[in-house]
Amino acid sequence: MPEPTGETPSPVFDRIIRGDARDVLDTLPADSVHLAITSPPYNVRIPYRGYADDLAPEEYLRWLKTVWASLHRVLVVGGRFVLNVAPTSIKDFRPIHHDLSRDLRDLGFIMRTEIIWYKQTMGRRTAWGSWRSPSNPHIVPSWEYVLVFSKGQWKLPGDPKAVDITAREFERFSDGFWAIPPERQRRGHPAPFPEALIERLVKFYSYRGNVVLDMFGGTGTVAAVARRLGRHYLSIDSSTEYSHAAAERVGRAVPPSDAPIPAPRVEVIASATSGSDRS
Ligand SMILES: C[S@@+](CC[C@H](N)C(=O)[O-])C[C@H]1O[C@@H](n2cnc3c(N)ncnc32)[C@H](O)[C@@H]1O
Repeated sequence: MPEPTGETPSPVFDRIIRGDARDVLDTLPADSVHLAITSPPYNVRIPYRGYADDLAPEEYLRWLKTVWASLHRVLVVGGRFVLNVAPTSIKDFRPIHHDLSRDLRDLGFIMRTEIIWYKQTMGRRTAWGSWRSPSNPHIVPSWEYVLVFSKGQWKLPGDPKAVDITAREFERFSDGFWAIPPERQRRGHPAPFPEALIERLVKFYSYRGNVVLDMFGGTGTVAAVARRLGRHYLSIDSSTEYSHAAAERVGRAVPPSDAPIPAPRVEVIASATSGSDRS
């Protein structure tokens, strides 16, 4: 297992890759990533560029399970996987986070916690169900889940000198109810992470110098925050437009002066078939 020392761990990192999540994961060395944070397409017909986001539910879960299996191989022992998913939609009330947790545990991931990301969006609500009547009222999901897993063991070995979280931050972040508004600056993407959410996760779950991955990386929020916080990064997305936006953004992120994380190299890894066609 590579030591999380702050050294550049491998020339395969510090890249933005346009490609299929599973294909690219399968090119990475085993036991090389310390923290993966991702938000996959939610399968709710979000108009991403080049991806329909509309699979049958079982096909969707089967596809993602193959991605999680590939991820498991590349995580170091003690490495973390943080999965952001929406709660039941009022369309079908299916608790998809239960399905995903089951699949990840089947693959050997250890579940450590779930964080409630309270998005503070109730001002914009539109669906009430049966207004002011118990006949069929709706609870509107004003939150999302942030599910956290580990590979093999709970502890992530690392150099105590590579810790950058303050005592105050540790106290705040270890309360699992996180009130963070959605990202306002969208950079042409329909569903980007807010940087504040990723900053917390990166500081709480990794050391400086670690490798942080997002295999559905969109416009590169995880990679940009990782570089700014002195971590190596890899961001994968199937869209050319989002990958270009990510490269520009990560290139502008300024790393700490004593952790000169390189600017991204941009690559394309061609797939035989598109991600969700492959199971
Ligand atoms: C919820 S968005 C992620 C947004 C990202 N967290 C951000 O901050 O910009 C999901 C992303 O998955 C990408 N995607 C869809 N299918 C993919 C695949 N097979 N491999 C890699 N990326 C894929 C979409 O293009 C979309 O950008």
